[in-house]
Amino acid sequence: MRAFRSYPIIGAALAQLAAGVVVIAMRPALAGVIDAGSLFWASLGVQCAGAALVTRLLGLPVWWVWINLFFPAAMALALQAGDFPAWPFGVTFLVLYLVFSNTARERVPLYLSNRQTAEALVSVMQQRGARRFVDLGSGLGGVVRRLDGDGRIARGVESAPMVWLVSLLLSKLTGRGLILRQDIWAADIAGEDIVYAFLSPEPMPALYEKARREMKPGSLLVSNSFAVPDVEADEVWELPDRRKTRLYLYEMKGGAAAA
Ligand SMILES: C[S@@+](CC[C@H](N)C(=O)[O-])C[C@H]1O[C@@H](n2cnc3c(N)ncnc32)[C@H](O)[C@@H]1O
Repeated sequence: MRAFRSYPIIGAALAQLAAGVVVIAMRPALAGVIDAGSLFWASLGVQCAGAALVTRLLGLPVWWVWINLFFPAAMALALQAGDFPAWPFGVTFLVLYLVFSNTARERVPLYLSNRQTAEALVSVMQQRGARRFVDLGSGLGGVVRRLDGDGRIARGVESAPMVWLVSLLLSKLTGRGLILRQDIWAADIAGEDIVYAFLSPEPMPALYEKARREMKPGSLLVSNSFAVPDVEADEVWELPDRRKTRLYLYEMKGGAAAA
């Protein structure tokens, strides 16, 4: 089960395989009883429902259950459509890759901080008299553009190609913020006063280690929604927005040597 948590696609493929075995086993028994059309729909129904059920039993995240439920139906419909051109699939895949490439690699999808969060970050910087800010995994760069200016210098680091390109253009057009195409693990954060991240639970332990190793004493790691496991935050800000956003603030005490 642990392997499926790290590589859910393997669990999802196994679930489809298990449902396929059931379909193959049941078809001869049903073939003499129902007509070919009904047999097709019955097989499809068992494939979809069976794959979803096995996915659930394997404990995969809920979106894999939905994917496995609809994937066989989508395949069947595409095949039935006959000479449906192949290129929309290729283009869709390419666009999804260019936008969501970090979802598979880092378990970090693209979702954006809201306005209230950006305003709270402005308050954090004002309270601490902070000047330098970096958003690790800056998405479309909204936070960076809001934070830059009024004496503050804000950078964003983003590696998903299309997301980076759009945020770079927006930054150039508005003249706010600096967007770098870079992996967060290669980003230089030694000079930053505030390092902000809105990622996922997965990278939090490694991110905290990087912050502890590289950030200067007194600087702050701020994580939106995802706490660092087994580390008590110095402050937790709960925002009055609809999703009750929580910001976890970790003050750096003086590098790895001080830990
Ligand atoms: C949840 S979004 C947050 C976007 C933005 N920080 C905000 O709060 O609006 C996370 C972003 O991190 C990016 N990301 C994930 N892993 C990354 C990595 N290793 N290097 C650079 N960017 C990464 C994703 O592509 C995505 O755009």
